Amino acid sequence: MASQASKQPALRAPPGLEGVIVADTMISKIDGIGGKLIYRGYNVQDLPGKASFEAVAYLLWTGHMPNEEELLIFKRNLKRHRKISEKLVMFLKEAVPKSAEPFVVLRTAVSYLQMVRSKENPRDDPVLENGTALGAQFPTILAYFHRIRKNKEIVEPNPDLDHAANYLYMLSGKEPSEENAKALDSYLILLADHGMNASTFSARVTISTLTDLYSAIVAAIGTLKGPLHGGAPSQVWEMLESIGEEELVETWLLDRLARNERIMGFGHRIYRTEDPRSKVLKGIASKISDPKTFALANTVEEVARRILQQRHPERPLDTNVEFYSSLVLNAVGIPTDLFTPTFACSRVFGWIAQILEQLENNRIFRPTTEYVGPPNLSL
Ligand SMILES: CC(C)(COP(=O)(O)OP(=O)(O)OC[C@H]1O[C@@H](n2cnc3c(N)ncnc32)[C@H](O)[C@@H]1OP(=O)(O)O)[C@@H](O)C(=O)NCCC(=O)NCCS
Repeated sequence: MASQASKQPALRAPPGLEGVIVADTMISKIDGIGGKLIYRGYNVQDLPGKASFEAVAYLLWTGHMPNEEELLIFKRNLKRHRKISEKLVMFLKEAVPKSAEPFVVLRTAVSYLQMVRSKENPRDDPVLENGTALGAQFPTILAYFHRIRKNKEIVEPNPDLDHAANYLYMLSGKEPSEENAKALDSYLILLADHGMNASTFSARVTISTLTDLYSAIVAAIGTLKGPLHGGAPSQVWEMLESIGEEELVETWLLDRLARNERIMGFGHRIYRTEDPRSKVLKGIASKISDPKTFALANTVEEVARRILQQRHPERPLDTNVEFYSSLVLNAVGIPTDLFTPTFACSRVFGWIAQILEQLENNRIFRPTTEYVGPPNLSL
């Protein structure tokens, strides 16, 4: 029997599904007018410095802030999973070209991990178990690949260090300063979840077919890679490098707009004011970035905001999360082509939270299309 829904006339969604609610969620809420982002009831701006990234990841997955013991167990679990399979290490060393894009390596490694994962100690919930392993292993995959491509010895995870500090340690071989570890921890907190963004939607659509977690995460990584989503911070950095001097900012931006190209790190589908994460990242960047770069970024922000406002008086175009992310990531020593993969190290925890939520009350995503091609052709 045809369902009630299929008897109703189809509704036309706006392009890009703008403004369409596709799920109820208890994970995160964006107030685009007020410029607020809430994780499970907490204002995200209040979290950096007060809670660790691991505590926030736990919050996203479970719905409550961990107590001391819960946090200890969660951190221990993540640390236990940090090492990657020897087969994957050999694959990274022998099969992956050193010139490969790190984000492509990450996407491929997640697929590879599914084939070689250990099936020991399966817990009740394979999504949680495999999710913990994936969340723990993203930094290891990236740091190992980075060192392999630079012909350096890989640096094994250090169980004495927390998630953010350990990532920096595995990349450089040196324990990071407390300031840099905290800066990266804050960055990871701020980027962990963000409503129904494109990669989260991909993850939820993919898991809604009841496929496996790895496939959903691969789909999400592929979606995050695009410059309209997570691929912007390296382009922001390249823009700052290409502008070079504060006096050149206005001409550079006008030239770019004249070529009908967008200014990276500006604009957002939901925010009609400054992205709240951008404010926090700007504060961090002001403390840890090189002062000349910070001054240049400030000038770009001011000039771009003015120019964009003249072009789009109907819609404020302000900095988004990617703009000051690029300064923070550079300052803590992350190479430019690892900016978006590092974003994924944070967002993977949000994807998993959203996948768990999708599975709690699943219905396969299956919208429809309007056929607008030629009618009734015959051969
Ligand atoms: C993030 C983004 C994709 C949101 O897009 P959106 O809400 O779908 O907005 P639209 O693509 O419909 O753009 C609306 C108008 O604003 C303009 N616009 C939006 N962002 C712009 C930017 N960064 N630079 C210049 N113009 C921009 C568009 O050109 C368009 O103008 P038009 O109506 O004259 O064609 C968009 O702002 C963008 O491309 N930003 C740059 C990339 C970036 O920073 N991505 C990281 C996102 S966190």
